[in-house]
Amino acid sequence: MKIAFFSTQSYDKEYFTRYNTRHELVFFEAPLNETTVALATGCNAVCAFVNDKLNATVIQQLAGLGIQLIALRCAGYNNVDLNAAQTYQIKVARVPAYSPHAVAEHAVALILALNRKTHKAYNRVREGNFSLDKLIGFDLYGKTVGVIGTGKIGEVFCDIMKGFGCRVLAFDLVANKHLEAKGVEYLPLVTLLPQCDIISLHCPLTEQTRHLINTDTINLMKQGVMLINTSRGALIDTKATIHALKTGQIGYLGIDVYEQEEKLFFYNLSEEIIPDDDIMRLMSFPNVLVTSHQGFFTDEALTQIAQTTLLNIDDFESGKPLVNKVI
Ligand code: NAI
Repeated sequence: MKIAFFSTQSYDKEYFTRYNTRHELVFFEAPLNETTVALATGCNAVCAFVNDKLNATVIQQLAGLGIQLIALRCAGYNNVDLNAAQTYQIKVARVPAYSPHAVAEHAVALILALNRKTHKAYNRVREGNFSLDKLIGFDLYGKTVGVIGTGKIGEVFCDIMKGFGCRVLAFDLVANKHLEAKGVEYLPLVTLLPQCDIISLHCPLTEQTRHLINTDTINLMKQGVMLINTSRGALIDTKATIHALKTGQIGYLGIDVYEQEEKLFFYNLSEEIIPDDDIMRLMSFPNVLVTSHQGFFTDEALTQIAQTTLLNIDDFESGKPLVNKVI
């Protein structure tokens, strides 16, 4: 099959080329939208990522070009109009899971860096400043960590924090029996929040979880709490969080995801004027660490993403059931 890849980065090209044996891959840097859809002319499938726009207009145009499959190289499919795909009989497949360790370990990296200020120490020492002033951290051992969402990633994260000697509390709609057996205690959110020194979010973005972290829930937290979000930006009400950073209610914030990340993350904007005042305010705090959605970014995860996406395409081509189909 001939597949048009949109929003291609150098690493997409590298990993997909490495594992592809039978398809013709055409890589475009442009995101998929109404103005770029014609690039898929002559292809049988498109391969899209989180910020590609697969709305009804784009899907109608893809159908007009003869596209039969949308192969998403990500887990989420909130950017695809599934009704339109159904109407035009275009199949949609995804990569439902890839290295939970990658994201859990990145959450831990944010905790360690925020706590021991390694990013600041690195810059200081490079400039010949060997002072320890203001670099003081705290022992993780014995601290209480709250985990919201204990699915694949949350489970790995709980295990790691247990390894540090932390007391781990959890909130989820369904308790994970393996974690309970290891001493993780499930509590209602309002009971969990006031007890935690560190809170890490690992639940999906749904109507129930949108702005789960808001003024009311922040006010339940311990003064000076460390908040970590590697899940989805909109779990956090950004403006309420900025206010809590200003008052000191939130003492540390580590985020790999951001409510308005579509226009920022994955792009080099170092020579641009960034119009988003909230991200600029967040980055101005000395106790905030922002990374641009790189939790998934490990060799193992990229390998799994490429292999599963190519397998989805193989199965579609050979008429086998699409195990990872969305529709
Ligand atoms: P999962 O589906 O295995 O686990 C999600 C857990 O959240 C489940 O246990 C579920 O019961 C729980 N949950 C659902 N609604 C809830 C609610 N209202 N309150 C509390 N818990 C709730 O998902 P997985 O693989 O662990 O991924 C978690 C999230 O991590 C994803 O939804 C995604 O947003 C994010 N993610 C981030 C990446 C990154 O690069 N930063 C990469 C991959 C995923």
